[in-house]
Parts: sequence; structure tokens; C-alpha cells
Amino acid sequence: MLLYESKSRGWHALELLGTLTPADFTRMTADQRAAEEPMFWESVCSEYDAENLCLELERRRDAGAYYSPEFWSFEKVWRRDEMNHYVGFRRLYTLIYGKPEAEIEAEMQQRAADFSAFGEFLTDEFKLCLMLAYDELATTRSYATDVPFFRSLGHPALAQWIERVRGDEALHYLNALRVAQARFPDRMATAPAVIAHILDLDLTPGAYRATFILDHQGPSYTPEILRGVADTLSGVIQRQLPAT
Ligand SMILES: [Fe+2]
Ligand SMILES: [Fe+2]
Repeated sequence: MLLYESKSRGWHALELLGTLTPADFTRMTADQRAAEEPMFWESVCSEYDAENLCLELERRRDAGAYYSPEFWSFEKVWRRDEMNHYVGFRRLYTLIYGKPEAEIEAEMQQRAADFSAFGEFLTDEFKLCLMLAYDELATTRSYATDVPFFRSLGHPALAQWIERVRGDEALHYLNALRVAQARFPDRMATAPAVIAHILDLDLTPGAYRATFILDHQGPSYTPEILRGVADTLSGVIQRQLPAT
């Protein structure tokens, strides 16, 4: 019996996007195509990089690291959702920019992840869950800012796509937070300090290295926005602490 079982909606990107063709993107002007290209490409990459993080955690588990059954329940649905997002963004990228999906896939497999900056988070499930909760809340807010753009494309499947992805990210945030709360009730009072440290790391300039975590570039991840994410998460945790 798990203390917390992670939730997922379990839908399929290509069932939603499978009938789209390049003709469904004719409302995008040439300027818009150019302007949005980094957003689409970064989404493809960062959704794919969840797989790198999962592989790293499996390597660590096989080398003797312990993560709880609640964590693996989270990891299972999270990994599936992120792969689903990757598959969907890969399809959209191909439809809009003409790069074949097989070529994108080959490029993704070449991405070398470097987790050396995150050792303390990978060896401590409590910190790992807080890092993921922070990251997923940032992603939720970032995709929320993309909703008007996807709606403006005029196809109901595209509006639904970004709503579903955003909804999944919000669920990931909640799942990661609940695992931390269920497994580590005695450490939750220290969470704001850990979150402050995560924010510091996130605001420190450094090249993103295919790790999924702290992939925060571009206009939807300004320091103000990231500070807001850290404040929200700390506030939620503090309000839910048992009274002493
Ligand atoms: Fe995602
Ligand atoms: Fe996510």
C-alpha cells in the first residue's frame, strides 16, 4: 500500500495530433514561424530529456541508491507523460518546420546529459521531489503563457494539445509535492531553505546540459517568474505544515 499514488491522465499525443497536416498551420506567418521556432525546439528537447533523468536514476538505483515505492510510482507516470509530450512536440515540429521525425529522434539520442551539478538532489529523494515540484510548477506556468498562441492557430486539436500538456505539468507538480509530503513529513519544515537553494542554482548562469531539471531559458523564465515559482511552492508547503 503506497502512502501516495501518483496520478496521470494517460492520453495519447498522436491520437490528438495524428490527423494534422502542414496545411493546418497556414495561419502562422513566416515571422511567427521564425519567432516560435526556439520555443518548439526547446520543448522537444526538454520533454525528451526527462528520459535522461530517468535513465540516470535507474543507473543510481542499480548501483545501490534507494528511492521509495512512492517515488517510483511518480516516476512511472511522469516518464510516460513526458515521453508523450515529446512525441507530440516532435510531430508539431515536423509539421511546422519540415524536419523529419526520425532525424529529430536521432538528434535526441545524441544528447549527452551531465548531472554533475545535481549530485545532492539525486542522492536525496526529499530534495529530488522538491526540485521536481519546483521545475514542474515553472513548466506549468510557462506552458500557460503559450495557450493564447496555440489557440490563435485556429485548430481545436492545437488548443486542446497545450491545455492537456499544461494540465499534465500541473499534475506532475502536485505528484512530486505529495510524494515529498507523504515520505518526509518531518523534513517539510526545511523545504523553504531547500527551495531557496534550488532557486539560487536556477538563477546561476550555466549552460543547460540535457538533464531535464532547471532547463529555464527564454522569456517565460525570467528571474521574476522563477522567484514567483519558488515563493508559491514555499508558501503552499508552509500553509500545509501541521500546526506545532
Ligand atoms: Fe512535459
Ligand atoms: Fe512535467
